[in-house]
Amino acid sequence: MQQKYPIGVFDSGYGGLTVLKEFVQDLPEYDFIYLGDNARAPYGNLSYETVYAYTLECVKHLFDMGCRLVILACNTASSKALRSIQQKDLPIINDGKRVLGVIRPTSEKIGEFTTTNQIGIFATTGTVKSESYKLEIEKFYPNIKVYQEACPDWVTLVENNAFNTPEADASIKLHIENLLAQSEEIDTIILGCTHFPLLMPKISQYLPENIRVISQGEIVSNALVDYLNRHIEINSACSKKGTLQFYTTGNTENFDTHAAVFFGKTIQSKFLML
Ligand code: DGL
Repeated sequence: MQQKYPIGVFDSGYGGLTVLKEFVQDLPEYDFIYLGDNARAPYGNLSYETVYAYTLECVKHLFDMGCRLVILACNTASSKALRSIQQKDLPIINDGKRVLGVIRPTSEKIGEFTTTNQIGIFATTGTVKSESYKLEIEKFYPNIKVYQEACPDWVTLVENNAFNTPEADASIKLHIENLLAQSEEIDTIILGCTHFPLLMPKISQYLPENIRVISQGEIVSNALVDYLNRHIEINSACSKKGTLQFYTTGNTENFDTHAAVFFGKTIQSKFLML
């Protein structure tokens, strides 16, 4: 009988749970293993070398746990580590294993939402500086102009469960103003960090009504469904018992408390020693 494998989902911390939530909704029969590197999060201000080293280490752990397909549900890891892993490491591992990110599928779809061809991105400093969104979007839509605003403090607000505080309001207002000051024509905004959907109620409160905010989780999940439909050999090797496992490199109690907010359900995580 053919051996079957769960799909791995990785994030620096909790943010990827907003993506996993969509995967589970769209692919309820598949098995998923989530790994959050909470002990070393946030990744947003770390160097390329460090994000690459941490991400690769975690991806290898997911491979060791039996995954053959791993999704980097983290924009920072997708922008700083994905290409190196795909080009340098996977050919050496050379075992049909795959690693996919979140920036390409989001960029591929963005043209369907904008009419002004001017879009904004809120992301971590690392993602903004990597220019990954600009580069990817340019490949699919050379006419679209991309404006970016780094919001490193938003990750901290979310990780500290502080999204309903006056500091959150002040910071959200400020970053929205900074982004919109770059162009009056922006009609679509990507939340280019998987932590940010948690701030959505506050973002909509301060954003002009004519600007649309794109939910990345839904787009990435649709892209995974499409990928599995196109890659029959990978799809048929996925185990499908509808199980979910959660691992954190940090404190499991903290993880479970936060995860309930990000994932919308109570979960029980296990500790992964690095
Ligand atoms: N959730 C990650 C992302 O999507 C970043 C958070 C961090 O800084 O670790 O970019």
